[in-house]
Amino acid sequence: MLKVGVLASGGGTNLQSIITACHNKKITAEVSLVLSDRKGAYALQRARTAGIPTHYVPPGPTAEQDMDQLLCDHDVELVVGAGYMQMLPSWIVQKWYGNLINIHPALLPSFKGTDGQGDALRYGVKISGCTTHFMDEKMDHGPIILQAAVKVMPSDDRETLAHRILEVEHQLLPRTIDLFAQQRLVLTGRTVTILPGDSWRDTYETIPGVLYSEGY
Ligand code: GRF
Repeated sequence: MLKVGVLASGGGTNLQSIITACHNKKITAEVSLVLSDRKGAYALQRARTAGIPTHYVPPGPTAEQDMDQLLCDHDVELVVGAGYMQMLPSWIVQKWYGNLINIHPALLPSFKGTDGQGDALRYGVKISGCTTHFMDEKMDHGPIILQAAVKVMPSDDRETLAHRILEVEHQLLPRTIDLFAQQRLVLTGRTVTILPGDSWRDTYETIPGVLYSEGY
């Protein structure tokens, strides 16, 4: 059973999608720790409700050492950024490289940063989506694992587009963890190869009109 540590700063709906997928045995993993840089993050409440150990780690001079120690203390094998808004320092990224993934609400490399949904809307793209990737030392930059594309509708505002993307995030992130747990991700330079095996497209409901990348 893969032990997952989740970093979250906000409401935690991505965290909830992982907790639910573990509970429903869609993925052979368990969330063994949830860390947040915000004391009032609802993600922490979701974790407590699910009986998962939580820690509030405020930004500060020892934050990263504390986080690293907590991850090790809970035998975490995969660290997942799920709406975590702090940049991790190089030493943590180097230590956990290949065991550190993130989800971003845009089709990277476009619209990196804290408002991928709004930037896409303001730029006027007709297609947007979300991306899971291994983290490296640059923001929203590491090797891509899965992507899914959604339409941007003429009537969209930031909220409706973000909601449409979030629905797909809740599929892509648990699936990414599942592929990691199945040891089907091969990382070579910037390329992630997904080894053959099952497909969630054949097993679980897909959202009409969404284009899922190979391996989903
Ligand atoms: C998600 O859209 C995630 O991609 C972005 O922040 C949002 C967090 O949502 N980085 P939640 O906290 O998981 O609900």
